Amino acid sequence: MSLLEEVELSSSDDFILSTSGLTKKFDGLVAVNDVSLDVERGSIKAVIGPNGSGKTTFFNLITGALPPSGGRIYFEGQDITRLSMHERTRRGISRSYQITNIFPYQTTFENIRLAAQGCSGARVNFLSMLKKAGEFSEFHEKVIDIALVVGLDPSRLYVPAALIPHAEQRKLEIAMALATDPRLLLLDEPAAGMSIEEIPEVIDSIMRVKDSYGDQLTLIVVEHKMDIVMRLSEEIVVLSEGRMIAKGPPKEIQQNEEVLRAYLGGVDEELT
Ligand SMILES: Nc1ncnc2c1ncn2[C@@H]1O[C@H](COP(=O)(O)OP(=O)(O)OP(=O)(O)O)[C@@H](O)[C@H]1O
Ligand SMILES: [Mg+2]
Repeated sequence: MSLLEEVELSSSDDFILSTSGLTKKFDGLVAVNDVSLDVERGSIKAVIGPNGSGKTTFFNLITGALPPSGGRIYFEGQDITRLSMHERTRRGISRSYQITNIFPYQTTFENIRLAAQGCSGARVNFLSMLKKAGEFSEFHEKVIDIALVVGLDPSRLYVPAALIPHAEQRKLEIAMALATDPRLLLLDEPAAGMSIEEIPEVIDSIMRVKDSYGDQLTLIVVEHKMDIVMRLSEEIVVLSEGRMIAKGPPKEIQQNEEVLRAYLGGVDEELT
């Protein structure tokens, strides 16, 4: 192996995820526009941007929920651009959703266990899933461990998920995403719909996850609430109309003029 090849291999090894010219068009609209981003292994990044700037679409491209119109995605040094969602999950990419995506009539415990068995979201055959449920008591310990890590209230583990408070439901979703043993976890607005008082709870939960998994887990968090972004992330990526307009440490981004302009351009969010 030449010296150059060695250098290239070791540098790509530092990045768990890389996108190169990633683009998604919906008819005339370019929702994600030529985004090239390297994500360091074990890091925690935030993706921010006004409504409709392409954040969720960017996640959908990484997870394989949507095929890109152009560009490439590399995970752990391998090109995964054309792999199915299922294969990407198997390789270690997991996500939570902007809109709560739990099984409301199953208990909190069952929701995590079903996710651990590879049944995620609403896209599963419910009967086969229930059949499986009885066969997998070995997941018990894993479920309890994950519930503790995300800080779910143990007294509510056996309550139907629809009946637990909203903040607990959001933590449950993080737990479900962790149940597939990801190495890259994408959280889409984990504090969506939460009151100001509940926000510290979700910050604590994400920090505990990060502390527990250390460098074994890389996190990308889409979030509007700036106190969460500032507390959690080492680096912020800013999307505006699908383009990556800035990237850098939180303090720098807060003062970036292009970012401020993007946020002042008639959207309902404030960068404070
Ligand atoms: N499946 C789709 N078909 C057509 N247009 C879409 C689709 N998904 C997203 N879009 C459009 O792409 C753009 C980016 O949407 P996206 O949901 O990625 O934004 P976002 O940054 O996550 O916004 P928000 O902060 O409101 O969640 C929007 O204009 C949206 O209407
Ligand atoms: Mg979104």
